[in-house]
Amino acid sequence: MRKGYVPFLQRTFDAWGVDKVVHIGDLVDWNSISYHEKHPSNSNAYREYKQAKKQVAKIAEAFPKVDWMIGNHDALTQRQATTAGIPLDCLKDYADLWEVDWTVHPRFYKLLLDDVLYCHGDTGPGGQHSAYKHAVNNFKSTVQGHHHANGGVKYYTNEKFRVFGMDVGCGVDYKLLQFEYGRKFPRKPVLGCGVVVNGKQAYFEPWVLPSR
Ligand SMILES: [Fe+2]
Repeated sequence: MRKGYVPFLQRTFDAWGVDKVVHIGDLVDWNSISYHEKHPSNSNAYREYKQAKKQVAKIAEAFPKVDWMIGNHDALTQRQATTAGIPLDCLKDYADLWEVDWTVHPRFYKLLLDDVLYCHGDTGPGGQHSAYKHAVNNFKSTVQGHHHANGGVKYYTNEKFRVFGMDVGCGVDYKLLQFEYGRKFPRKPVLGCGVVVNGKQAYFEPWVLPSR
């Protein structure tokens, strides 16, 4: 997480009078236990867990009540356990693992709030305007994360209905080694967050970055 992201979220949510917070998933990266090739200088799993826990604590302190959609990265402990043949009963649940008192929604869950569907976004269709494509397919306004380089809102309307798709961006510090895989791509993660008003309107708030 890039430094300053939590205060940005607090300022934004205060300005909008936000009364409910959804974490769209991939709260943590878990680079060290991912299925991808690792950079040799990266942290080990224990150090990553301890460091990530400090960042999670900052988020939980700012937002004590959250609906957390489990993302593909959050799920890496369970995914690796399954690969190794370890029963999931042997693991701590996600809230215990990260010491958050949040409502945890399992991977691929679709949460409906004010008739807007919230999902992590790792079920396809992907690419640009992924949330918009989901909204059209579901014919339901849809908010999602997962695609770090997507941030924004797009509406679809017919004679009777209007729906929106919002990609909420993210707060990652993509200059860190864990994101080395993205260095070759010109597109970078869009830093920001999303706000939904009464289930009818959606606004993507890009983060005006502090200088390093
Ligand atoms: Fe994801």
